Parts: sequence; C-alpha cells; structure tokens
Amino acid sequence: MIYRDLSAIDFSTEACLGVPRPERVLMTTPTHFDVEYVINAHMAGNIGSVDRDVARIQWDEVRAAFEQTGMEVSVIDGAEGFPDMVFCANQSLPVRLPAGTSPPAAQSPPAAQSSPAAQSSSSGAAHRVVLSRMYALQRRLEVPYFQRFFAGQDYDVIEDVAIADIAFEGMGDAMWHPGRWLLYGGYGFRTNPAAYDIIDRQLDVPIVLLYLDDPDFYHLDTCLCVLDEDHALAFPGAFESCGYDLLKHFFKVVIETPEHEARELFACNATCADGKHVILQKGSTETCRRLREHGFTPVEVDTGEFMKSGGSVYCMKQLYW
Ligand code: ARG
Repeated sequence: MIYRDLSAIDFSTEACLGVPRPERVLMTTPTHFDVEYVINAHMAGNIGSVDRDVARIQWDEVRAAFEQTGMEVSVIDGAEGFPDMVFCANQSLPVRLPAGTSPPAAQSPPAAQSSPAAQSSSSGAAHRVVLSRMYALQRRLEVPYFQRFFAGQDYDVIEDVAIADIAFEGMGDAMWHPGRWLLYGGYGFRTNPAAYDIIDRQLDVPIVLLYLDDPDFYHLDTCLCVLDEDHALAFPGAFESCGYDLLKHFFKVVIETPEHEARELFACNATCADGKHVILQKGSTETCRRLREHGFTPVEVDTGEFMKSGGSVYCMKQLYW
C-alpha cells in the first residue's frame, strides 16, 4: 500500500510487523572512483579533482568505523569504467521478510493479502533484493555486480523494476524503518514513484512516499537518516510539509540538522547501523551535539573526496542481513 499524506494513515509504527535490523555491511573499493561526469549538483566543478590516494585512506576509515561498531563488512571490487560504483547504496534494495511470513503479511495495514511475487518465489528464502534501474546511463551497468553478489548470498532477486525500465536507485531513495516492515520511498530526482507501485505489488509492504525538490538533496539519504525505531535525523527544508509530517508521525523524535551541515557537510548522509553509533562526515558540530543529547554516539570520519561526487558515509555502503 502506498501512502502520500497523513490523512490516509490510520496506523502507527508499532502496528507494522517486526523485522530484525541488518547486521552486515557491503562496501565497494574506491579503486576506480573519480568524478568523470556531472549527474548531481554537487559534482559540478569537480571533474578530475579526486585524489585517489586520499580517497582510499578515507574509505578505509569508513570501513574501520563500521567494523568498530560490530558490523561484518564484505567488499566488492570497484570495476574499471564505473567511477560511481563505490556508492553501493544505490544499485539495490535488500529486503528481509518479516518472521513467519511467506508471503509477507502485515497486521494493520495493509490487509494480510497474499503477494503475487512472494508466491511465485520458489525458494521461500527470507531474503530478497530489488535490483535498481539507475537513472543515469553512466551507472546502469553497475547493477549486475550487485545482482551477482546477492544471488551468491542466497537472496531471491527481484528484477521487475529494472525490466520495466523505471528509474529506481535502491537504498539511496528507499529506506526501511529500523526494525519494521515499513518502507520510505524518496522520489523527485532519481527514482520514479512508479517503481514503488511495482515494489508494493512484489512485497505487499506499506510504503510512505516522500517528495524531494531541492537539487542538493537529490536522494532521500541526503536529507534523512533513520537512527532507531523512535529516532530519525533529517533536514526539514528538503521536504514538503506533508512529507515532514509523515516522518513526524512514524518517528517519535525527528532530530533536525542545521541547513549548512545538511547542505555542505552531508550531515544526514550518515549511518546508524547498531542503533547507537552514528557514523557521519566530520565537522557537523551542531548535529553531533543534538545526537548526543538524544543518547547517540557520533563517530566522525572524513569523506571529503566522496562529497565531491555528491555522497558521504551512507552512500558508501549497503546494509543487508
Ligand atoms: N555521483 C553519485 C551519483 O550521482 C553519487 C551517489 C551518492 N549516493 C547516494 N546514495 N546519495 O549517483
């Protein structure tokens, strides 16, 4: 079921089925990372400006930060000719079905209807992965690398969005509510909202659509970071008021980032994999202070080279089960 505004919502976060949090992290080596074209506002003026040695040091630091928070990190080698492949949040949406449901069913809402795609899946695996259809031609052929990775992890691969040729950029725009069978779907720049209709038909999952229209915040992950079941970090200015109201309905507390930290320092492009440590670009002093005030521990890293391409910590990894 797709939701666009609060008036249609008659359920709380707690009414959504429980799903365990992902415990694994996937990263792609920055061996061939560069800014070679401009497909987002942050890349303008940065062509050819990446220092690969510095990028490698920064990437190692991000990887170490994930390992220090207890996550197991797997690595795919970045392939030649794909300078953006290091941003591995984008090529897929890993899915963990709620326990005991195959096909998935939600309590309230949606009604516990059977899901056609789930039925057609023969393996009955608890893990699925929705493959992306990258908006930019330059990135389209990154996807098969991730298809192979997840197929090798015993994930059932859902290719329907890609086959329908509808733009969808994976976890860059689609984000799970921590611990719940509830998906946020960003759209406006990269992902076509029609992709969420297909995902809903496949998974029978409540999807809350969030519209983006500021070019600096071209992916949902540039302005929203889910922290735990009750908390999210967000830059309100990137959302329409009805979108922000939706976030405030589903999260008890939305911690706001100041505009400068969100726009210039990618403060929301953070990751809180364990529900406590928030790994984010260094220098977002006020965001860090607010995170601490709510009991989170900020872990600051330098992703300066990657920010030249429009991405920071969140984009540099994929979370999966
Ligand atoms: N240069 C990449 C692009 O424009 C950056 C992607 C960053 N990823 C993200 N999830 N925000 O596609």
